[in-house]
Amino acid sequence: MLDLREWLSKVDQIGELKALRNADPELEIGTLSEINARNRGSALLFDEMKGYQKGFRLLTSALLTSKRLGITLGVNSANTVQELVNSLEGKSSEWESSASNYPPKEVSEGPVLENTLTGDKVNMLKFPAPLWNEMDGGRYLGTGDVVITRDPQTGVVNVGTYRIAVHDDKTLGIYISPSHHGFRHLRAYHSKGKACPVVISFGHHPLFLVVGGSAIPYGLCEYNYAGAVIDSQIEVIKGPITGLPIPANSEIAIEGFIPPDKRLPEGPFGEFTGYYSSGRTEQPIVEVAAVYHRDDPIVLGAFNCKPPHDYTLMHSVLKSVMVKDALRRVGMPEIKGVWFHECAAVNFLLVVSIKQMYPGHATQAGAVAAQSQVAAQGNGRYIVVVDDDIDPTNLEDVVWAICTRSNPETGIDVLRRTFSNKLDPIAPKETKEWRASRAIIDACRPFNRMNEFPSVVRSRPELREQVEKKWKDLLSET
Ligand SMILES: Cc1cc2nc3c(=O)[nH]c(=O)nc-3n(C[C@H](O)[C@H](O)[C@H](O)COP(=O)(O)O)c2cc1C
Repeated sequence: MLDLREWLSKVDQIGELKALRNADPELEIGTLSEINARNRGSALLFDEMKGYQKGFRLLTSALLTSKRLGITLGVNSANTVQELVNSLEGKSSEWESSASNYPPKEVSEGPVLENTLTGDKVNMLKFPAPLWNEMDGGRYLGTGDVVITRDPQTGVVNVGTYRIAVHDDKTLGIYISPSHHGFRHLRAYHSKGKACPVVISFGHHPLFLVVGGSAIPYGLCEYNYAGAVIDSQIEVIKGPITGLPIPANSEIAIEGFIPPDKRLPEGPFGEFTGYYSSGRTEQPIVEVAAVYHRDDPIVLGAFNCKPPHDYTLMHSVLKSVMVKDALRRVGMPEIKGVWFHECAAVNFLLVVSIKQMYPGHATQAGAVAAQSQVAAQGNGRYIVVVDDDIDPTNLEDVVWAICTRSNPETGIDVLRRTFSNKLDPIAPKETKEWRASRAIIDACRPFNRMNEFPSVVRSRPELREQVEKKWKDLLSET
């Protein structure tokens, strides 16, 4: 059973949950979440927020640490990011291939049905929707949400995370990039002049956010994928209005329709890149037909700002594991490590470390990693390939390798016209289809000079250990 309250009690047990009262949803919660993300602080559970009734709560900072991300993914002993990554090695392929064994399980009852509101009783303004950042063009209830839609042709269900604004008591705004799977469903209904049925869950176990915000292949339902992660089917309730599956343990969910012929201005919104890139544009709306919520419901927030923010760690870990798996699947030899850097808004800097086996190996590893489905589908900029003595997660190591082992004249290849979207801060405003380039930087020692390349000036590990032991007291002072 995937339940947010159970997750909160596990996080409380490890001392990583803080309860806060009387915070102001207008900028204060966002600013606090920004500072907290930099400090890798506790998960923050807000109650009695200004303007909202007691018991209607909001959780931010859920996935800032490897322990909390580990608990979310069922890895309970992940003290460090490296431990977490190691224990997830190969898992994304396993989850993908076993997902068909975990179809969502339909149940007739669930906590989400504790309160059902339809007709005049629908009031989305009751649920905490902060003004997260100063230039946001409105209040956003959905940041860590999942949007559930169905492909009208194949019947396959998609679960994706897309931001949700509150326009008024019965109308929400939704922003979906055209490349995303939910958009395909929207387009399929709208091209026939029909409204797209939709379910949105605003509060749930963070695993829903992990799968909703990750690039799971089209046609593979994220409910199945999440089931594979926890080795148990996800319980869902068939929505009485749309027939779509609602997570039975959701804190708050709505059923509604996205009409083909109505749009409202949406944005700007502080985005994952650390910029307000998408501006204010006309976007689809959701007409809410019914609201279901638990008593004292909890909204799951996922705050964005200049990185790091609420979900940079989640994306770094998941994407790195997925790209490493993808490289292995195509038979790429001797891949030692893969890391997307949080400070580059994850997508924009990918480092791959290899033990070079043949001339061209570094270029091949960089190009394949850059165009693996997970890396290619989002924004991207720099892919750096380093030797296996370089820790790809350590920026100082990586920069040293770039600056001492790559020759700009010969060591940088550019892939032109690759996928991007208008969330890329350098995308020109007027373009409809933005494609960006990606640079592959070969920061490995030249293959034909491997044996004669200057030796690294660094003490041997045994020597370091010996000296560290002898001078322990002195070294612990610094
Ligand atoms: C917290 C968070 C917020 C996101 N917001 C949006 C958004 O507003 N619009 C969007 O198109 N994608 C957004 N994304 C990215 C998509 O969720 C992500 O690319 C996902 O893989 C899309 O799933 P899909 O391919 O099934 O549509 C967000 C991701 C996360 C983690």
